[in-house]
Amino acid sequence: MDMEESPLSSELVQSGLTTHTLGQKIICLPVTGSTNDEIKKLAESGAPDGTVVTAEKQTNGRGRLGRVWNSPPDGGLYFTILLRQPHLPKKLTNVTLLAGLAVCTALRESFPVDARIKWPNDVVVGSRKVCGMLAETGFANGSFQWVSVGIGVNVNNRIFPQELSRRATSLLLETGKPCSRCAVLQSILAHLEPLLGNGILPKTYTELCVSLGRQVRFSRCHQNFCGTACGISADGELLVRLSDGQETAVGSGEVTVQGIYGD
Ligand code: BTN
Repeated sequence: MDMEESPLSSELVQSGLTTHTLGQKIICLPVTGSTNDEIKKLAESGAPDGTVVTAEKQTNGRGRLGRVWNSPPDGGLYFTILLRQPHLPKKLTNVTLLAGLAVCTALRESFPVDARIKWPNDVVVGSRKVCGMLAETGFANGSFQWVSVGIGVNVNNRIFPQELSRRATSLLLETGKPCSRCAVLQSILAHLEPLLGNGILPKTYTELCVSLGRQVRFSRCHQNFCGTACGISADGELLVRLSDGQETAVGSGEVTVQGIYGD
């Protein structure tokens, strides 16, 4: 039997934290609907840049495109970071790409896993997803105030619901050993802080991006397109070479990459 990891606490997380801002205020909850909703409430009542909320489980974990994020206790790491100026890069869209890079690098450095980024910010091992992110923005009186980055990492999950089992993996399943959620969180925050400070997308993003060179499909103005992903623009868009040789930049929405998650 594995030793069950103790619940995250602010003392535990902060005791090994090397950051100046991210996680300097941290609230660790046993359960919540969604850590993104908790951060929204805190942001609206003036919580500082870098505030983090974690939860042992979420009853209403949310994913991108209105999907549900499976958030059972024992195994998953669920947290959201609040970012305000000056911790926001000029290109807001780069926040999530930088967060994807921070998670990917943290996992690669701490564990023997070949983690890669599926543009824009899913982290995958092989063809399965190990981490997803949901970024949200807050406005007040018509002006932009904050960004929240909600991150879900499958750390010690042993099983997934049937509909996810071919698309999801965890660090435990990949390494064969239980991993410390606290260490994963500390390492992600430590990698993210300098990346946000620089603001630009480093070359390592492209090197770790598994989408490049693959066939991708996307839709624009109700028309479907396919082509080969050939680069990332300075604005964090996916550059796709279409079959007629033209290159186009895909900014948002759903892009399916052949060979990943059983597409
Ligand atoms: C996705 O891949 O669709 C995004 C998943 C984001 C999940 C995280 S878990 C912590 C935070 N709270 C949420 O409700 N969602 C994000």
